[in-house]
Amino acid sequence: MNLFKWASIILIISLVKPAISNGVSTKFLEFAKKDEIFSWMVGVRRKIHENPELGYQEFETSKIIKQELDKMGITYNNDKHEIAVTGVVGFIGSGDPPFVALRADMDALPLQEMVEWEHKSKVPGKMHACGHDGHVTMLLGAAKILKTHSHILKGTVVLVFQPAEEGGGGAKQVLDSGSLENVEAIFGLHVHPEQPFGQVFSRSGTLLAASGFFEAIITGKGGHAAIPHHSIDPVLAASNVVVSLQHLVSREADPLDSQVVTVGMFHGGGAFNVIPDSVTIGGTFRAFSKESFMQLRERIEKVIVGQASVHRCNATVEFSSKNKPFYPATINHGGLHKFFKGVAGDVLGVNNVQETAPFMGAEDFSFYQEVIPGYFYFIGMNNEKNEEPASLHSPFFQLNEDILPYGAALQASLAVRYLSQSQHPKKHDEL
Ligand code: NI
Repeated sequence: MNLFKWASIILIISLVKPAISNGVSTKFLEFAKKDEIFSWMVGVRRKIHENPELGYQEFETSKIIKQELDKMGITYNNDKHEIAVTGVVGFIGSGDPPFVALRADMDALPLQEMVEWEHKSKVPGKMHACGHDGHVTMLLGAAKILKTHSHILKGTVVLVFQPAEEGGGGAKQVLDSGSLENVEAIFGLHVHPEQPFGQVFSRSGTLLAASGFFEAIITGKGGHAAIPHHSIDPVLAASNVVVSLQHLVSREADPLDSQVVTVGMFHGGGAFNVIPDSVTIGGTFRAFSKESFMQLRERIEKVIVGQASVHRCNATVEFSSKNKPFYPATINHGGLHKFFKGVAGDVLGVNNVQETAPFMGAEDFSFYQEVIPGYFYFIGMNNEKNEEPASLHSPFFQLNEDILPYGAALQASLAVRYLSQSQHPKKHDEL
């Protein structure tokens, strides 16, 4: 073989090899695990955990994020450019295309923390029971990694600290602010208490369901419980409504098209011997396709109104409002799935990258995916010692802080590698 042939082979190999090799990915994890970085992340996370804030009220959380970004010398939206009330959008890199976004949700839940520990929530009735304090910290960790290695960035990383994931649809307002224009791809993660530590799982296509809420007031005529014929009983009407709603999935939906209707709220009456004037019920409905979701919405209203009238009651039904919008289904981009598997395999080891079946949970990350190719995944944080960890949204939920460097390193690696591959238009098509 002559010299020219060798030279061409070497040239081909160097073109085929990703510009950012595995070395960088593992280096990021080592970097994030360093004592000083890890203890900084733990400190930030605990500070946020002690002061949980609900959707669109994350003012202190927003301040902490901005302070940390300031310390790192990372620019973000100024006060004149408000994003979803408390949102923060930062930028690292050249400021030029391509743009890739990493997203963390910021809000807590209206729950009283039941875990007794030094950094327990200091706000009665509010708790970070979904790990969003960890997500914010991981994104700050990723920011630290990216800023430290900004010389290798071939474009711009957009850091999205997003308010109000828990029902408020903060993602939609972030999009409406226009701050993600020109973003080519977006990645989001969620911690998972039951899955093995350091294992990620997701899938191509539909991962999570579309979700909506409804609330109905069923009104009759109150009176003495011993003289029911002088009243119009809304408790009986509402009870029949609940039963009839269950027929929507069992009798009207294709058994192979997964759907859920759950009535989770039923309020009415205050005494054993009084028929109340009205009963309020509320619940959620889920489906994987837009068609099934809208069909459920239409039928839920008809069933409630119709069934109430069978019992001589009136009913009004309200669906998700502006601050509680319907969430679309979370649908992962097929090309990004392949890309994610490659990067996650390099950072965590291929055995730690798992496929999962879709499930009926919902995420407002789906709003991004409606306009930007996006990828959402879970990262397990259960170590072997913990046999029965409390689930997400439990007042006993605990974040395993050891997972923080893993989330940070993986998100940072996804951004770096994406920008690097996005330099080649042909390769980008394959993403
Ligand atoms: Ni969550």
